[in-house]
Formats: sequence, C-alpha cells, structure tokens
Amino acid sequence: MTGNQTPQASPKASLKQYCRQEAETASLAQRLAASIQENMEHSPKSHLNISLVGDLGAGKTTFARHLIQGLGYEGKVKSPTYTLCEPYELRSNQQAFIAHHFDLYRMRDPLEWQEAGFAEYFDVPGFCLIEWPEKAEGTLPTFDIQITLRAGAEENERAIELNAFSEQGKKVVERISAIQANS
Ligand SMILES: Nc1ncnc2c1ncn2[C@@H]1O[C@H](COP(=O)(O)OP(=O)(O)OP(=O)(O)O)[C@@H](O)[C@H]1O
Ligand SMILES: [Mg+2]
Repeated sequence: MTGNQTPQASPKASLKQYCRQEAETASLAQRLAASIQENMEHSPKSHLNISLVGDLGAGKTTFARHLIQGLGYEGKVKSPTYTLCEPYELRSNQQAFIAHHFDLYRMRDPLEWQEAGFAEYFDVPGFCLIEWPEKAEGTLPTFDIQITLRAGAEENERAIELNAFSEQGKKVVERISAIQANS
C-alpha cells in the first residue's frame, strides 16, 4: 500500500486539539516528542512516517520545529523549502536516530523525491516528517500518523488533529493523552 491515506480510511486513533496560540501548538508538539521518544526507547530500530497537512502558513514548519527541538535538538530548525529535506540527528538512551524533515511544495514531479534518493530515508531508525505530501501524488510510503492543521477564527488559533493509520502510530498517538502539558 502506498500514498496518502484517503479521507475515507478510518484512523485507528485520533487526537484533536484547539490551540489558541503558538505556545499551545508547541506544547502539543512537545507531548508528541515525548511519546516518540518513548517509542524509540522501546523500539530503537523503529521508523515512523508522519505527514503535516495544511494551507500555506497553517503552522506545519512551526509544529515540526517544536517537535524536533522537543526531542532535544538545540540548533535551528528551518523550513526545508529549497533543499526539500533536512536531517536532524537525535538521541534516546544513547541510541542515535534521525528525523528527516521534508517540504515537497516546490517539487515539480511527483517522482523527484525518489530520484533524489530520499526513499531510503523512509526506513532508517527515527521518523520522517513530510510537509505537502499532496505534491508526491500518492507515491510516498504509508503514513503512520497524519497531522492536519487548520486556521481558526482568530489570527493565532489553529485546530490541530492527529490521526493514526498504523498500530505503531496508534500507540504513539494514544500515549500523548497520558503525557501532561507542561505549559
Ligand atoms: N497557534 C499557532 N500554531 C502554529 N503557528 C502559529 C500559531 N499562531 C501563529 N502562528 C504563526 O503562523 C506561522 C506559521 O508558519 P509556518 O511556516 O509554520 O507555516 P507552514 O504551514 O509551514 O507554511 P508553508 O506551507 O509555507 O510551509 C508562523 O509565523 C507562526 O509563528
Ligand atoms: Mg512550512
């Protein structure tokens, strides 16, 4: 099975949160980071595919930044708009893993990511975060978790939804509810 989950595919687990400001989005991303960290500690070789879906300026890169920094990365997390992909080296329990952050917005051909050799990043320990998966038109591997961001009524409001489509994604999403927001 490949590609973006169609809207009719029913998620195995869901979490919806209304974030009134960026700090609340950051808090949700940090709780996801804690859940991924736990997943990596239990299964050091595991890999998660996570899509970030939403309009221009919805907050996909902002969410990715708080997630990657929530996993202990101390440098800048920039939008990979021009490079298509940025890797981040992370650690859990002395075990290294990698987050590959993609932005496919500028891709001209749906198969460009495969020609660039990115396909091999989809099973290294860690996770892939993919902004604009729509641009790959169903050529990407299946997503474990799809994150959708929508603008709210006020400028800084976002409705954020996490949907899990695999057993591993389900565990990660379900665990978030048990992790307390620290802000
Ligand atoms: N609640 C919020 N959650 C996330 N971002 C917010 C929120 N409130 C305001 N923002 C701001 O919205 C902007 C979102 O920009 P960002 O680059 O993350 O969007 P994007 O979805 O990645 O866009 P693009 O499709 O161009 O890559 C940032 O300037 C961020 O500070
Ligand atoms: Mg972006």
